[in-house]
Amino acid sequence: MRTGVVLAGLFLAASWTQASTIKPGDIWPDDHGQHIQAHGGGITKLGHNYYWFGEDYSPSNSKDKRYLACYSSDNLSDWVFRNQVVKLSSPEDLGRDWVLQRPKVFFNTKTRKYVMYAHIDDGNYKFARVALFTCDKPDGDYNYVRCFRPLNHESRDIGQFIDDDGQAYLIFEDRPFGFRIAKLSADYLDVEKEVCLVPMHLEGGAVVHFQGLYYTVGSDLTGWDPNPNRYATAKSLEGPWSEFKHIAPPETKTYGSQSTLMLKVVGEKTTAVIFLADIWKPKNLSDSRYLWMPLQIGEGKLSLPAPKQWSLDIKTGEFSFTN
Ligand code: GAL
Repeated sequence: MRTGVVLAGLFLAASWTQASTIKPGDIWPDDHGQHIQAHGGGITKLGHNYYWFGEDYSPSNSKDKRYLACYSSDNLSDWVFRNQVVKLSSPEDLGRDWVLQRPKVFFNTKTRKYVMYAHIDDGNYKFARVALFTCDKPDGDYNYVRCFRPLNHESRDIGQFIDDDGQAYLIFEDRPFGFRIAKLSADYLDVEKEVCLVPMHLEGGAVVHFQGLYYTVGSDLTGWDPNPNRYATAKSLEGPWSEFKHIAPPETKTYGSQSTLMLKVVGEKTTAVIFLADIWKPKNLSDSRYLWMPLQIGEGKLSLPAPKQWSLDIKTGEFSFTN
């Protein structure tokens, strides 16, 4: 009996780091068998571990509070639930339908603090600010610090980007103008300097730096409904950015999903860029699904293949389709 348990444990440990299948659009169970609640998410890599933060719409949540959850994984397929890292009552006078969405966590190596940005708003999306939280651990209870308009601009959907030189950027949708890419301050507790205003009305903004070129992806402003997401490229983050093109056949509306992040996985053999997106179910947000797919990317072109099951070898960076 004991030996059986030990053997099962060894088998689990051995299989954990190896690729298990990612199934876009399916229920994605965590280590407790619960569908992962990390919608509109961001990913923070710490050593060999990935931490996935996102909106937690668990049916057991209290209606008055807003919840953000954290999961960890060493292979991007099998996720361990860590904590509801934020369980917050409205910190401002935002009314009953206030929102706290799209959390993004940045680890500051100088201060050793985990700094979280999230979109905070009233039910009419007029407040348009970022909420700032800090924590001493990636998966601890985050403390609310304050909320503000980055560089005094409206801010709704946010995205995160860490360049190869380690510089951290916030991407934020500024409704009157387009979307902005801005540098965080040295301690990450503020948004310090605008790098670029992209005068396109896109949200769910994401950026990746791949083979010497920057790629940005965004979604049209259609609320929970999907739309054809688009991309552009630039030699420098400041731009100029190329014209925007569809990332998938427009009639598929990004296969029913909306962008949240592009994740670069640098393996021993190759580098994969994964498109992370949400398939929203507005009538039952906790049932919203994830569409994670490796992108076809390079030489200024980016395209999202039709969703199918796939697996990633986190060591080599290679992926394969499994059906
Ligand atoms: C979308 C946004 C989502 C959520 C939704 C609510 O535009 O990307 O994060 O805020 O609107 O309608």
